[in-house]
Amino acid sequence: MARASLAGLPDYGREILMRTFNLDVDALRSFLHLLSVGVWIGGQIVVAGLIPIVRKVSNQVATPEGEKTVTQKIAHRFSRIAWPFFALAIITGLWNLEAVAPEWGNTSLGWKVGFFAKLVLVALSGVGAWLHGRARRPAERAIFASLASLSALVALLLAASFNVT
Ligand code: HEM
Repeated sequence: MARASLAGLPDYGREILMRTFNLDVDALRSFLHLLSVGVWIGGQIVVAGLIPIVRKVSNQVATPEGEKTVTQKIAHRFSRIAWPFFALAIITGLWNLEAVAPEWGNTSLGWKVGFFAKLVLVALSGVGAWLHGRARRPAERAIFASLASLSALVALLLAASFNVT
């Protein structure tokens, strides 16, 4: 990011970062990465919030033998939306990594630790969601769903802490 000292402004004893606008390939990369993680994490939060109502409705609707309940249909539909966006998060994450790689020498130890911790959390989120989809007992389903969401949320917090100074 470009640095600039702005003449005429008070001297804060440090250079000031310019805020600029660039609608380019880097913007597209960020957009796709943020969109994918938004759907993965936001979707889980919204579905978790809707589940009590969905269950209520589901219990009021008779399900023919061998068919999925309303809750199961919604869960299935959600997973068909969420997984492609998780894949997009990984693809655009690798694209981000390719963009950061030439500056690897300019990354602090904190950035490196944060980045690898983020990768572990992303993996945990994916494994949690996969196990959640396969679990049969409600308690297991709840534990794996929490693992999927919480690890993704912490990954997001770590990513929000990546800085250019
Ligand atoms: C749930 C999964 C993920 C979340 C929540 C997440 C979140 C984020 C966010 C919010 C940013 C900042 C975006 C920006 O400012 O443009 C970011 C940047 C980045 N992400 Fe991810 N990401 C995820 C998955 C991944 C994966 C799987 C990889 C690598 C394979 C990855 C690699 C990166 C890299 C290299 C950056 C740029 C860091 C920098 O500029 O210092 N991300 N991520």
